[in-house]
Amino acid sequence: MQTLAQTLTSQAVNSSLTALLLTLANTSKAISGAVRHGALAGVLGATEQENVQGETQKKLDVITNDMLKDALKADGNVRGLASEEEDYVVEVSKQGEYLVCFDPLDGSSNIDINSLVGTIFSVLPATDGELNEQSFLQAGRQQVAAGYVLYGPSTMMALTTGKGTQFYTLDPDSGEFLLTNDKVAITPDTAEFAINMSNQRFWEAAMQTYIADLLLGKIGPREQSFNMRWIAAMVGDVHRVLCRGGIFTYPTDNKNPAKPFKLRLMYEANPMAFLVEQAGGKASTGYETIMDIQPTEIHQRVAVILGSRNEVDMCLSYHGLDYSEEPTID
Ligand code: AHG
Ligand code: MN
Ligand code: MN
Repeated sequence: MQTLAQTLTSQAVNSSLTALLLTLANTSKAISGAVRHGALAGVLGATEQENVQGETQKKLDVITNDMLKDALKADGNVRGLASEEEDYVVEVSKQGEYLVCFDPLDGSSNIDINSLVGTIFSVLPATDGELNEQSFLQAGRQQVAAGYVLYGPSTMMALTTGKGTQFYTLDPDSGEFLLTNDKVAITPDTAEFAINMSNQRFWEAAMQTYIADLLLGKIGPREQSFNMRWIAAMVGDVHRVLCRGGIFTYPTDNKNPAKPFKLRLMYEANPMAFLVEQAGGKASTGYETIMDIQPTEIHQRVAVILGSRNEVDMCLSYHGLDYSEEPTID
């Protein structure tokens, strides 16, 4: 089986990006070790701090953020970084060619119940001149690489450099990420959806009607039964979609009108959208293609609907309906 380094060579990825991706892979191995030791290493539980988004930081949020920050500072190819756990963008190396945005630990609420968590990252080209927030505000279409590492029963990395999406599995014997799927392909159709149903009453009419029709199963307009899954970690839900198809959504809701969206564009939605598109799927907000959004803030949030392309299209068709009238779906 090919190693990660061998695969990047065969994809003709340049040496600086290869070095950066190997740094991310190596750091994720260390994170995998910290996650696996769990309570034995005293890494579970919360800190007393909040991040800039007002969320209480778990100990592992802080530990993994520091591990990635230290590794990217030592790498030499990184101009700057932005993280869910950093209030502001961080300048790294003047000569670095890349910007890295990351969610060091996605699915923090799963840590203390020993469930799925992961690391998500997005790599953008550095721009000329002074490094500031503006340097990062590039559409997802500009990404040169994106991926995640899932700390599950096995540690797996999903990665794209724009040449399809690949899966690698960490071999615990050799410590290498080995290529275990060289062409991830999302089935165009699906009978599985992922959404936090407890927010149902807060969704827009379009999403209310779409999900109601899925739940009607064979007697509804879709004339088939749909299964539901919710891991509460985007990495886990997107991984399932990449493995066996599905539609994953964290839609707009009005539970808290000051915060209509949950997922962050720069280090959750964009990297996942790149992986999904490269695997033949689609990723939208309901009204706009995720990777075409012009970002305005490093921590900005967006609605996300992604996965099997025909099912995403079906969901989008509901967003085009006129809900001032009774929905007519026969
Ligand atoms: P994070 O742990 O990085 O803050 O992200 C959590 C996100 C995402 O991973 C997941 O899909 C969603 O929050 C879960 O939301 P609910 O708590 O509504 O299930
Ligand atoms: Mn997250
Ligand atoms: Mn996180």
